[in-house]
Amino acid sequence: MITAVDVIRAKRDGLELTRAQIDWVIDAYTRGEVADEQMSALAMAIFLNGAAPAEIADWTAAMIRSGITLDLTPVGRRCVDKHSTGGVGDKITLPLAPLVASFDVAVPQLSGRGLGHTGGTLDKLESIPGFEADLGETRVIEQLRQVGAVVCAATGDLAPADRKLYALRDVTATVESIPLIASSIMSKKIAEGADAIVLDVKVGSGAFMTELDQARELAGTMVRLGRDHGVDTRALLTDMSLPLGRTAGNALEVREAIEVLEGGGPSDVVELTVALAHEMLAAAGEPDADPAEALRDGRAMDKWRKLVAAQGGSPDAPLPIARETETLAAEADGFVTGMDAYAVGVAAWRLGAGRTRQGQPVQAGAGVEILKTVGQQVRAGEPVFRLHTDTPERFTSAREALDGRWGTGAEPPERGPIVLDRIA
Ligand code: URA
Repeated sequence: MITAVDVIRAKRDGLELTRAQIDWVIDAYTRGEVADEQMSALAMAIFLNGAAPAEIADWTAAMIRSGITLDLTPVGRRCVDKHSTGGVGDKITLPLAPLVASFDVAVPQLSGRGLGHTGGTLDKLESIPGFEADLGETRVIEQLRQVGAVVCAATGDLAPADRKLYALRDVTATVESIPLIASSIMSKKIAEGADAIVLDVKVGSGAFMTELDQARELAGTMVRLGRDHGVDTRALLTDMSLPLGRTAGNALEVREAIEVLEGGGPSDVVELTVALAHEMLAAAGEPDADPAEALRDGRAMDKWRKLVAAQGGSPDAPLPIARETETLAAEADGFVTGMDAYAVGVAAWRLGAGRTRQGQPVQAGAGVEILKTVGQQVRAGEPVFRLHTDTPERFTSAREALDGRWGTGAEPPERGPIVLDRIA
């Protein structure tokens, strides 16, 4: 007979868990037989002692089996999904999903709401008047057949063990563990039923993984898990030491995504959108497709309008704007030399763009607009950031988050590439 205490003790003592132990503990935890305090102890033992590749594979498989797996065969096209490990200003899903769908490839994007300093894709989309994120499975498949792309909330039936465990990890300081992150992300993604998955693994101050080596290990682990389950999985490691684009905050980011779909927008957002689209299209058997052209000629924008309308949104309705704004100015002439992504994320969050507890409402118009980014010239007194909020008492704490976390100097810095590595 397997017991929770035996499994915890084995992992505590550095032993490798057997498949039978893992299957039992995930199943018993999902059913409520293993208590939260026991799972917390096990998560901490995994956090401290790590897990072998076979354990990570068995853990992921057990979490997939804890719920349903979507059957996307009725869509009738190759289905390719993208997952980002989360970063500041990461609005890439918004232009990317319609862009890839404009090539007759289906893109099921089951996304989340934000917690902490990184924003959630659904919070961004829900700033569009009328937009609905909670669709049932039948509507998801119908929209994939009709439009080719859907961005909606994951249902509770997909990997329910992960839903429970992730909430527990969040309050027990056991999130930042490669085996636990990899199995958490991949169990949900594999259960979504896509044929291929492209991972955007972020590296830098605004990401879970601050070092390239850790990010490489996480990406390699996830790529192996996907492939072991017959899903073509590839990963790009991308820079998250600076915020992505010029905005962090829900409606502000939607506006920027629309600029990209109109053929403009910040160069880093365009570069990453096109790089990820290339990977997704190659995984779907379209290696020669030209996503940059589909942004320029309006095909991606047509798809975006169809996607928004299919989910009840008004593509032409004005986006919400915050009631109050304030700017933060440079103190001396020079160039913007640095800007910490994490600090910008925290400032946007404090202005009301994010939540501190699950289920809290967010302000659609709140966030940070970067008026002068790294490498640009500024004059003393010229605004570098514009802060947006409906609740002006939040300005002080947002300013504090940015204080000392950006700078100017006499020389413009070198900016490296956004894509740091590729694992396939
Ligand atoms: N996102 C997830 O879904 N799970 C993790 O563990 C970390 C990020």
